[in-house]
Parts: sequence; structure tokens; C-alpha cells
Amino acid sequence: MLIHCLHGPNLNLLGSREPSHYGSVTLAEIDAQLAQRGESLGATVSCEQHNGEGDLVAAAQGAAAADGLLVNAGAYTHTSVALRDALLTTGRPFIEVHLSNVFAREAFRRHSYLSDIAVGVITGLGIDSYLLGLEALVRHLQRRVA
Ligand code: DQA
Repeated sequence: MLIHCLHGPNLNLLGSREPSHYGSVTLAEIDAQLAQRGESLGATVSCEQHNGEGDLVAAAQGAAAADGLLVNAGAYTHTSVALRDALLTTGRPFIEVHLSNVFAREAFRRHSYLSDIAVGVITGLGIDSYLLGLEALVRHLQRRVA
């Protein structure tokens, strides 16, 4: 099983970026823990991060070989019809994840262009949002083939 994780803008700065919202975990730690947890679940996890919207769209288009996706689109979650269209075109099930609780922050973060086309959304649990998202995605994919 192949799972691809897409990280959006500014997530490369995790560790030093607004620790009150995002804690001290780095992107490299998230990617390493995802790979490790994936291995224990029988899934190979690959990850990529992009700051540019077009780069993220290209990454979503290029993820057609994956069985499913974990997507933290960062700020593009709240703005990007282009990313939504790319994910729809790729046609792979995905789980939307956020480190912070987007519902406990500014009002504009409560709207997502991705949530209604995602399998589910996990928000506010820090790195656990990713790890729980991975577990849920693997179970979702296993149910689909069973
Ligand atoms: C985020 C939440 C977004 O609103 C924000 O723009 C981010 C990170 C999160 O993981 O909590 O960049 O997706």
C-alpha cells in the first residue's frame, strides 16, 4: 500500500514557526514518524512539501500512483480551488489533516476547499493528526479492497 503525504506552505518551518499553534515538532520528525508508523501498518509512506500553490497542484497530479493521500495544505486549504480540482482529478481518497485546531482560530480558517471531498478531517492534535490520519486512511483502503 502506497500513501503519499502532501505538506503545504510554511510547514517547512515547523519547529520554529509559531510554536503556540504548531508546537516544536519539525517536518522531518513528522515524516520520519509517518514512515515508521506506515511500516508497522504495512504501508509505504512518502512525503513532499511545497510552498507554491502550483507546485502543490503538480504534486497532487503526480500522486496518482499512490493508493491514498494525507493532505495538510496549510493556508491553501482555505483558498485553493486549484488544489481541490487537482485532488478531484487525481481521484485518490485523502484525509485532510491540520496540526492546529483550525476551528479555534481566525474565522477564515473554518472554511476548507478540501473537507467535503476528503474521506475525513483531523485537526488540532499536533503530530497525532497525521498519525491518526494515516491509521484511518490505511483502514479505509483496507475496507475498500476487502
Ligand atoms: C495548518 C492550519 C492552516 O490554517 C495554516 O494556514 C497552516 C497550518 C495546520 O496544520 O494547523 O499553515 O494547516
